[in-house]
Amino acid sequence: MRNLIRTLPILLAFLGLQTAALSAQTTSAPHLEKRGAATQLIVDGKPFLMLSGELHNSSSSNLDYMKPIWPKLRAMNLNSVVTPLSWELVEPTEGSYDFALVDGLIDQARHENEKIVFLWLASWKNGLSSYEPVWVKQDTRRFPRVVQNGNPIEILSTLGSATQEADARAYAALMKHIKEVDARDHTVVMMQVENEVGVLGDSRDRSDAANKAFDSAVPAQLTAYLKAHYNQLYPDLRARWDANGDKAAGTWTEIFGDNERTDEIFMAWNYARFIQAVAKAGKAEYEIPMYVNTWLAGDNTPPGDFPSGCPQPWVVDVWRAAGSSLDFYSPDLYDSRFQEWSRRYHRDGNPLYMPETRGEAAGAANVFYALGEEAGFGFSPFAIESEAGDKDPLGESYGIIANIAPLLAEHQSAGDVHGFVLDRDHNAVDFTMNGYTLHVTLDEIFGGQASNGFGLIMADGKDAFLGAGKGFKVTFKPRPDAGKHVGIGSIDEGAFEGGKWVPGRRLNGDENAQGVSWRFDQRQEHIEKVTLYRFE
Ligand code: DGJ
Repeated sequence: MRNLIRTLPILLAFLGLQTAALSAQTTSAPHLEKRGAATQLIVDGKPFLMLSGELHNSSSSNLDYMKPIWPKLRAMNLNSVVTPLSWELVEPTEGSYDFALVDGLIDQARHENEKIVFLWLASWKNGLSSYEPVWVKQDTRRFPRVVQNGNPIEILSTLGSATQEADARAYAALMKHIKEVDARDHTVVMMQVENEVGVLGDSRDRSDAANKAFDSAVPAQLTAYLKAHYNQLYPDLRARWDANGDKAAGTWTEIFGDNERTDEIFMAWNYARFIQAVAKAGKAEYEIPMYVNTWLAGDNTPPGDFPSGCPQPWVVDVWRAAGSSLDFYSPDLYDSRFQEWSRRYHRDGNPLYMPETRGEAAGAANVFYALGEEAGFGFSPFAIESEAGDKDPLGESYGIIANIAPLLAEHQSAGDVHGFVLDRDHNAVDFTMNGYTLHVTLDEIFGGQASNGFGLIMADGKDAFLGAGKGFKVTFKPRPDAGKHVGIGSIDEGAFEGGKWVPGRRLNGDENAQGVSWRFDQRQEHIEKVTLYRFE
């Protein structure tokens, strides 16, 4: 008893510390964290895999319009929504802010148990400038435009310091407000700053201020970054620097060459400088992850045909050199080379998150690759409310991934999960993990082959795997050092309920090709577990 009395204060203090630590953990703002092999979005102490969609540009400008959309999104198993929010509606008159729409959207999202990524449509959207308030639009002296062929056009110039200050001030006010209303609930988990920025119609801004900056020395901050990160630079950018002698000082053309790619690098630096400053002002008020998205360039298209300066993979280093307030760079991935572009962005510490991509059947398949193979933390097809419906294939994939999400996040960190998309032209892929080589092909039974398949597979303890998806089958080989043959012990379909695995049918016979392969038939997506054994 005496001992208990003596140790009680220590025990209570310890418990107090534990509670304090726990509440600090649960109240810390959404943030990115490197956990093992993956950089993850952490919300309320846990990895949050964003099964999202981006709304049409104008839907979220009106709360009544949004009302019937939210339940549809929920029915499609979305856990988060990329939601446009414009400067013109937040600051219609200079210096006076209106956050009624912000509050209304947050309320609606909470009601449907959805998280929000706000998309700050301010100085630029798709290269052009149409979302800034009219008081900015009409004052071209204070807020100068890009000049093309001697004329100002509808693109704000990155060289306008008053524009940068005004955009940053409004964004900071917005972040301050979000902190006031959401620091406890964490409904808003990330911010996209501007949208698909860059000069369209020419490779660079030709205003007097831009010409002057272009003829001046490249900032030492940029060349110092190139030097310090030489080995990790994107190969194309490094080649350009190498080709001109890896100079530490000089004008833009002296350092990168006299061509339009140098114009692109110059624009990347100037957009980056501006937007890093806007993000920094926002983070000073409320620090949650912030990123910039990219209108991807076509093959061999010159800058200006795509917005010149946006963070294409080959200028992401330039954006990083300009500041660290932006946490990552994202592709708007509509191109059919989904895997190639994903890899170009998932490199050198940049995690894969896709604010815009194709939905429907393509999205239903690609989400498995993005999250399973590239450790992506979010997937968000554009125009999501147009495809929302109970039978939507994307909704089916989201339902399956939501069921295994905590486990998937763990395995992203452990680095023992693979994702794949198969069709008749790319009908097989091999992975080695957990002591086995897995040969994944399109599903086939009695001579009938699936036309496409997709899914992911993760290790599930010794001699076991968990898989999800449809239209594929797996055969196994042991690693050479581990016994001659592998047999399938058992296959169960099932799902997690309250974190616990609840098996459904035991799959055998036709369902596993009489014990020969682990099958995921093409009729609907499944979650299945397989156990293996070895024999001589
Ligand atoms: C990409 C833009 O980022 C979106 O806002 C939207 O305009 C789509 N294109 C339209 O396809």
